[in-house]
Amino acid sequence: MQTTIIYLIGFMGAGKTTIGKELAKQLNWKFYDTDVVLQKKYHFSIPDIFSQFGENRFRIMENEVLKELSNYRAVIATGGGIVEDQENLILMKERGLVIYLSHPFQASYERIKNDKSRPLLKKTTTELNNIYNKRLPYYQQANMTIETNGKSPLQIVSEILSLLKK
Ligand code: S3P
Repeated sequence: MQTTIIYLIGFMGAGKTTIGKELAKQLNWKFYDTDVVLQKKYHFSIPDIFSQFGENRFRIMENEVLKELSNYRAVIATGGGIVEDQENLILMKERGLVIYLSHPFQASYERIKNDKSRPLLKKTTTELNNIYNKRLPYYQQANMTIETNGKSPLQIVSEILSLLKK
């Protein structure tokens, strides 16, 4: 495989972190989660960044982190909103392989609805569904799409690995 960076994109609750960790383990590559790196770098939690500085500032930080991480061989789980900035999609496609983990809105919402660490969950279900729909065409620009609904992380990882061998 020529690729040196695999980016996982998709809506909140699609399983990017769980699948990314397992994929990195099986490839024996490093794993990074943009949200985790961002919080360490800026010493603020994501809810605090949103409430104190706003979402636009968060997007700038996210772009910085993505650029920094895009220099190493790794599997990178990105935040669900990474595609809000077209520059990020261009960068990811230039530097590596972008895999979209496609998961239906309702099933994703059920997984995350009680999570206090995701500030976007203050929005109504309809608003979130609109965000999901707005992002879909950007997620679909990924190099590969994997349907994840009803599959175990191990199943998804083995599907990704077999696609990578082709
Ligand atoms: C966001 C998704 C979150 C995190 C932040 C904003 C979004 O990441 O980056 O809360 O805009 O969809 P996950 O997709 O890992 O939940």
